[in-house]
Amino acid sequence: MIQAKNLKLVYPDGAREKTVFDGVNLKIDEGERVVLVGPSGSGKSSLIYLLSLLKAPTAGRIYFDGRGCAAPADALKMRYERFGFIFQQHFLIGYLTVLENVLLSVKGADEKTRARACEILETLGLKEHLHKKPPCLSGGERQRAAIARALLKNPRVLFADEPTASLDHATAAAVMRMLNDAAAGKILITATHDLSLLQGGERVLRVADGRVTEN
Ligand SMILES: Nc1ncnc2c1ncn2[C@@H]1O[C@H](COP(=O)(O)OP(=O)(O)O)[C@@H](O)[C@H]1O
Ligand SMILES: [Mg+2]
Repeated sequence: MIQAKNLKLVYPDGAREKTVFDGVNLKIDEGERVVLVGPSGSGKSSLIYLLSLLKAPTAGRIYFDGRGCAAPADALKMRYERFGFIFQQHFLIGYLTVLENVLLSVKGADEKTRARACEILETLGLKEHLHKKPPCLSGGERQRAAIARALLKNPRVLFADEPTASLDHATAAAVMRMLNDAAAGKILITATHDLSLLQGGERVLRVADGRVTEN
């Protein structure tokens, strides 16, 4: 379970400051699918960075299972052991195969891990592409490979920041469906500006004017 208490985030903005959040409180339960919606610049990415401990808040704190994780070592451990990330750009390495890219997310990939990576890639419809390199894949296939990489560690929380923003609508919808299925039982936090990609059953949080409200 993730809790955010009194989050404040201020960015320096030239001589002035830009307050993105002021007093955000949130509670996300195990297995919840949360979608952050809001206009460009409203703070969706910033909220993902805060919740995933990639960014420290100006004030306030994030708790996992009731435990505060403010120390950098805690954040590093959580990110490595519990979190999976999917971004708008896939960040796959072009000179490694899809399978090798996925295996990069774990230490010492033994046979069992390799078999699991292949299984995840198969579930995501990439069976034919295991040994291809990312430049030979379509945009949707690359994003699915990035999802497989995030899933291999079996993370408790998946963070997806505009995971389909660089795809056409039909491909984006298919990728979102697969992401939703793959995230069953985990917390999935997705930021999107495209409401037509909602799958049904998500908890929609609106990010605007420094606040996060239930839609
Ligand atoms: N590193 C940064 N330094 C200064 N301002 C930033 C930085 N990152 C984001 N911002 C500002 O914070 C606001 C929220 O940005 P962001 O979280 O990227 O919004 P969204 O993902 O909803 O488009 C925007 O006004 C943006 O310009
Ligand atoms: Mg963003």
